[in-house]
Amino acid sequence: MIGHTVVRLEETPSTNDFAKGIAGRPDADGIVVLAGRQTKGRGRLGRQWFSPPDAGIYMSIILKRPLHGKSPSLICPALSLALAETIEYFSDLKPLIKWPNDMILNGKKAAGILVEKTNDIFVAGIGINLNTELHEFPEEIKDKATSLKAESGMDWDREEFLKKLFLISDGVLSGLSDGDHGELLKKVKDRSFTLGKTVKITDGARVFEGEALGFESDGSLLLKVADGKIINIRSGETE
Ligand code: BTN
Repeated sequence: MIGHTVVRLEETPSTNDFAKGIAGRPDADGIVVLAGRQTKGRGRLGRQWFSPPDAGIYMSIILKRPLHGKSPSLICPALSLALAETIEYFSDLKPLIKWPNDMILNGKKAAGILVEKTNDIFVAGIGINLNTELHEFPEEIKDKATSLKAESGMDWDREEFLKKLFLISDGVLSGLSDGDHGELLKKVKDRSFTLGKTVKITDGARVFEGEALGFESDGSLLLKVADGKIINIRSGETE
């Protein structure tokens, strides 16, 4: 059960790092580490994750369960879907999932997911701009970032949101353990910000440009590049 134990911290450098430190516990699977603020919140590609006190949700889920087949690369879409469904449950917002890990509301990023691995145990970090005010965002992300409050006009109840997110994540991740990827990917496709668009994807030194056509069963992206060839991309940053 996701959230069978919730470790609540007022402040920590990064909930992902804290979670990795306790991932060896026998009951680690499903433990959630939650912080009021992070002093070294980490985004993908070594970026910082803006983590001001109490405005957002900064959490990490430890996943020690057996994940079927290639499904580890599906953790990101699975949790993005759980997040989207939780937002939809409480509001009329239409969250979209930008491959591989961004939650987009009205064209701007409201949440992100960072999955890391330690000794074959996955730690899925989720950062959500819940009640963050737009003027709080630092200059460099001001034009690209938003929050659930800014887009819905309402104050979000953190505890109610977390309860629902744990429940929905539990269902989605159980489906993953059972190998039930088809249904998951269909729901992700229905909410995709990426599919059908011409996108530029950077993966380290490699850059790919083309039309995003669909997903493979392992969650990787199918891209139609200039010469008409269809390539399969497992990870990267989408522009
Ligand atoms: C991204 O979009 O770049 C991923 C952002 C992930 C941020 C979360 S906040 C909780 C957890 N702890 C971290 O240091 N990072 C993740």
